[in-house]
Amino acid sequence: MDLIKGDEINLDELLEAQAHVWNHTFRFISSMSLKCAVELQIPDIIHNHGQAMNLSDLALALGIHHSKLHCLHRLMRILIHSGFFAESKTNPTDQQKAYVLTPVSHLLRKDNPLSSTPFILGMLDPVLLKPWQYLSSWFQNLDHPTAFSAAHGESMWDYAGHEPRMNHFFNDAMASDGLLAASVVLSKCKGVFEGFKSVVDVAGGTGTITKVLAKAFPQTEFTVFDLPHVVHGLQRCENLKYLGGDMFEGVPHGDMIMLKWILHDWSDQDCIKILERCKEAIGKKENGGKIVIMDIIIGNQELDEHQSTETKLFFDMEMMVCLDSQERSEQQWSKLFAHAGFSHYETYHILGLRCLIELFP
Ligand SMILES: C[S@@+](CC[C@H](N)C(=O)[O-])C[C@H]1O[C@@H](n2cnc3c(N)ncnc32)[C@H](O)[C@@H]1O
Repeated sequence: MDLIKGDEINLDELLEAQAHVWNHTFRFISSMSLKCAVELQIPDIIHNHGQAMNLSDLALALGIHHSKLHCLHRLMRILIHSGFFAESKTNPTDQQKAYVLTPVSHLLRKDNPLSSTPFILGMLDPVLLKPWQYLSSWFQNLDHPTAFSAAHGESMWDYAGHEPRMNHFFNDAMASDGLLAASVVLSKCKGVFEGFKSVVDVAGGTGTITKVLAKAFPQTEFTVFDLPHVVHGLQRCENLKYLGGDMFEGVPHGDMIMLKWILHDWSDQDCIKILERCKEAIGKKENGGKIVIMDIIIGNQELDEHQSTETKLFFDMEMMVCLDSQERSEQQWSKLFAHAGFSHYETYHILGLRCLIELFP
């Protein structure tokens, strides 16, 4: 009661604050609704329907019982709100709501080669969500290097090494970005890759981006280098081969080394070791070799909008929770490069949330 009487308390402000708290408490609902839509393959079903699809037809195609029709309507309503679908009419006589895809939902189609579906399913897999329940206790004791190992008893890479399901969903999640990244790089920055005899994609996963680059540069020899369990059984083709190994022990020789989405997985100390191994691999400065990094740069107030800053901060937290690593500001990158003995670098803001950085010995 005192609270209501107090002159200094602005109740409208408090209600706004409460709404803000509720919104953030429930943000997982946005992710989980998205995951549900992808698991049910709603984007593919609407796409294959060939026109706006009404609720009953969607329910029928999904095999959803009539008693749950109103629930499906509510799932679609929140997904429309977050921009994943749009509302339309099937025809003027049909009173029912009907759904169409938006440019975003095309990325959720399983049959789209650029699909983000494996990324959504991977990042929202219970294995990667469990560590979040350990975050506060991880902060308060030193028993585990990461919240991931507090949850699972070992590092994420070790876990993936003996859990084939995690190995596959993680590799697929990473690979799902490769085609889009390759298309962007080839259309906006092709020159960066021109004129090299050999390129090594260090920690290159299953090599999606490298396969595209290998086709675009048939004169160049490409190697995808990753942990043995990742590249096991992958077949070489023409100018692309796979090699298993540990990048901390050594990196195969290449005129150009690619590090896509790698350094954000590691502490500064480990990054310096990786960069030193890469520097050895490209050989003397006079040979004209370089390293190409694709990663996030955080804290660029001029270039970033509110939403992209938030997404970068989400990535930063994901790195902390799973790997005790981080996204870096330009200053942090620059310091890292200097410590690893590189002379200069060039940054290209061409890859959406990430940048392409050319690094020279
Ligand atoms: C975030 S993923 C990026 C994969 C790929 N570059 C891409 O962008 O899709 C990190 C990769 O690092 C690999 N990795 C982790 N530790 C490694 C090590 N010690 N040596 C080589 N690769 C390693 C993982 O297996 C995984 O494929």
